Amino acid sequence: MELPVSQRSRRIRLSPIRSMTVECARVGGINLAQGVCDTPVPEAVRRAAQQAIEAGENVYSRSEGCDELRAALAEKMRRHNGLDYSPDEVVVTNGATGSLYVAAMGLLDPGDEVVLFEPYYGYHLNTLEALDLGAILVPTRPPDWELDFDELETALTPRTRGIVINTPSNPTGKVFSRAELAALAELAERRDLIVFTDEVYEHFVFDGLDHVSPASLPGLRERTVTMSALSKTFAITGWRLGWIAADARWTQTFAALNDLVYVCAPTPLQQGCARALALLDEDYYRGIGPEYQAKRDQLCRALERAGLTPFVPQGSYFALADLSRLPGETGMERAMHLLRVTGVACVPGEAFSERPEAHALGRFCFGKTPADLDEACRSLAGLD
Ligand SMILES: Cc1ncc(COP(=O)(O)O)c(C=O)c1O
Repeated sequence: MELPVSQRSRRIRLSPIRSMTVECARVGGINLAQGVCDTPVPEAVRRAAQQAIEAGENVYSRSEGCDELRAALAEKMRRHNGLDYSPDEVVVTNGATGSLYVAAMGLLDPGDEVVLFEPYYGYHLNTLEALDLGAILVPTRPPDWELDFDELETALTPRTRGIVINTPSNPTGKVFSRAELAALAELAERRDLIVFTDEVYEHFVFDGLDHVSPASLPGLRERTVTMSALSKTFAITGWRLGWIAADARWTQTFAALNDLVYVCAPTPLQQGCARALALLDEDYYRGIGPEYQAKRDQLCRALERAGLTPFVPQGSYFALADLSRLPGETGMERAMHLLRVTGVACVPGEAFSERPEAHALGRFCFGKTPADLDEACRSLAGLD
């Protein structure tokens, strides 16, 4: 009897991050492929969640999320992003992954198209695929990952309903400037597009640049779905805590779909984060950029010395580098060579782009402990 899996599930591309991680463990290497953040969770965050569990806050929350967390997130967005959302316009989700799934399911229909900038974050593409949405891939080009607005405009079709912005971006580290966002805002208004913006790396910004939330631009708030998470900011990727902020007319749709797919985000962790957001002072958030900029510089120096020229990122905790001098035809072959010779695992570029140039790229994560990063940098020096 043949019981095939769905067409939809066949379109989902499994990330090579998993296979690189398995290979890396097999050779006892250093995993710069996986995007988990190895830095410590702030004590206030850990304690507050433990207290919430002990206080018995262990049952379902409302599907919109706990009121305390919704209020704390609205306040955070006002403070850090200049965004004016009321707590009623915030829906707590299961990480930023849950945010895009719920938001895209809530606002788009099968066959609608969404612009994705290439190199893209694989989950963004797979989420669109899982919802039977079409992805229109528009390249950004190295070294600065600039956008060609004429190319973007030409790529749009009458079915295009949305655009995904990821700033700072995984994997390029691009931080969209206010001018670029203003041009995107003009396009979105003229073509009546919904803007889905993923800002999980909002605090991981370097070189004195500012993170600009698209919804803070004139005219964009009404058509923008702001998506973020505490996953990276508090180094709690396993807690599954993210949110959507958007105009009130969409809140109940998002809440209903969040209820359907996830029921709710973990209640004690929501309560813990609500309290931690009130406890942590600004020094914590201000410290993230410089800490990760130092890690970026350390990794990029090691890549440069190894002849794997990095495209130095403006934000996030990833750097793309040029692997073209390594033997192999594909990014995977080059990444495997690097792993065999140095024990350092990266993600081959074809995980982020369908363009042939991607086979010359590798993505390295620098959200690592100082000891792991030191060892990775030492090992890269062993590449001839
Ligand atoms: C751009 C981007 N968005 C979303 C996520 C996932 O976030 P979460 O763990 O909150 O679902 C990641 C994780 O790597 C990411 O890089």
